[in-house]
Amino acid sequence: MAGGDRDLTGRRILLGVAGGIAAYKVVEVARRLTRLGASVHVAMTHSASRFVGSLTFETLTRNKVLTDVMELDAASEIVHVELGKRVDLIVIAPATANLIARLAHGLAEDPITVTALASPAPLLIIPAMDHHMWANAATQANVETLRERGAHILLPVRGELASGEVGWGRMQEPEAIVEAVCAQFGPGPLAGRKILVTAGGTREPIDPVRYIGNHSSGKMGLAVAQEAARRGADVTLLYGAISVPLSAGIKAEHTPTAADMAAAVQRIAKDCDALVMAAAVADYRPASIASQKIKKGTDLTLQLTSTTDILSSIAGLPLIKVGFAAETEQLLSAARDKLRRKQLDLIVANDVTAEGSGFGSNTNQVTILGRDGSMEELPLLTKTEVAARILDRVQELFDERS
Ligand SMILES: Cc1cc2nc3c(=O)[nH]c(=O)nc-3n(C[C@H](O)[C@H](O)[C@H](O)COP(=O)(O)O)c2cc1C
Repeated sequence: MAGGDRDLTGRRILLGVAGGIAAYKVVEVARRLTRLGASVHVAMTHSASRFVGSLTFETLTRNKVLTDVMELDAASEIVHVELGKRVDLIVIAPATANLIARLAHGLAEDPITVTALASPAPLLIIPAMDHHMWANAATQANVETLRERGAHILLPVRGELASGEVGWGRMQEPEAIVEAVCAQFGPGPLAGRKILVTAGGTREPIDPVRYIGNHSSGKMGLAVAQEAARRGADVTLLYGAISVPLSAGIKAEHTPTAADMAAAVQRIAKDCDALVMAAAVADYRPASIASQKIKKGTDLTLQLTSTTDILSSIAGLPLIKVGFAAETEQLLSAARDKLRRKQLDLIVANDVTAEGSGFGSNTNQVTILGRDGSMEELPLLTKTEVAARILDRVQELFDERS
């Protein structure tokens, strides 16, 4: 499959750029991976920055480039350690003879080797160098050491080198590199599954300028969509008001009101294998919408009417249904009741008043209840981790059904 056909949404890639002439071609690699939806984090050696500027990578990837081993982030965390923990793959291109030697010997003196040493992520090494350097026994032994430890090597090809000579050592072209990166991810455990995710809060108009809304940021739903895409699913995201950027590469449709979201779910869910309803959908909307801005005056009474209950409206469909219960009291009993009434397979119960949980925060503490009576109480986790736990359960349900 051509690299350009693949979806890398939600994949986090560290692209290590060392000091070889081929660094300029890696700019194109960064651009292509980003366009395929990956979150690309570039780390550069000092020599690499003599060949190409960090500003170029930063502009293309929209992520800060790591150039300093000693760097701390805003939360005073060690950047390379945090980055190492978060990335799914480390790609080093061009991998110079010098860098390969450092990596093989566990030397951690530049932003690439220090991150690679601190990371459990798989390594894809893409050497580029003069043909004598490549053929040198030291280089070959170092490459072999790294291969034995599990690194994947995209071997250089024979061609014209920076010196003007022709030989083995020329870096593979950006297209082949992108293909090799895509191949590292494989098809993913949710490949072939269509998953519909809703996120954010709906807004119910009162008049042309006012609405009834809620505090949902969309972070939880977006995390589910990204994680599902990362696992290879074909994801469609329906979103209301959100305060975080959408991921490039995920099919997304804006559904501002509860009625818009209900119509879209009813249209799309019948072709899907699972629905995760993480959106905070309004239960009520104004019974009528004023055509002009309501003038300031005496007290105003708004009459509200119920919105369509989206999950109940698709109760007959055979797809796996996951709901959320955002509550402020009697969390588990309310969640169990919702699970039963709406014929869900799973419900994610979430006390939105708890410390570090709920609207807008980056973390969540939830309990996942199953139709089978199961109850999984999770600790305080990032929303990405919560999304992963939810999708683990969805995967189990797919396995049970097939
Ligand atoms: C113009 C020029 C081109 C170079 N190209 C390469 C190359 O393609 N591969 C390589 O291994 N080293 C190359 N070098 C040598 C490296 O830049 C040098 O070994 C450096 O220390 C590598 O540092 P790094 O591995 O920390 O990035 C080149 C040097 C110069 C001056």
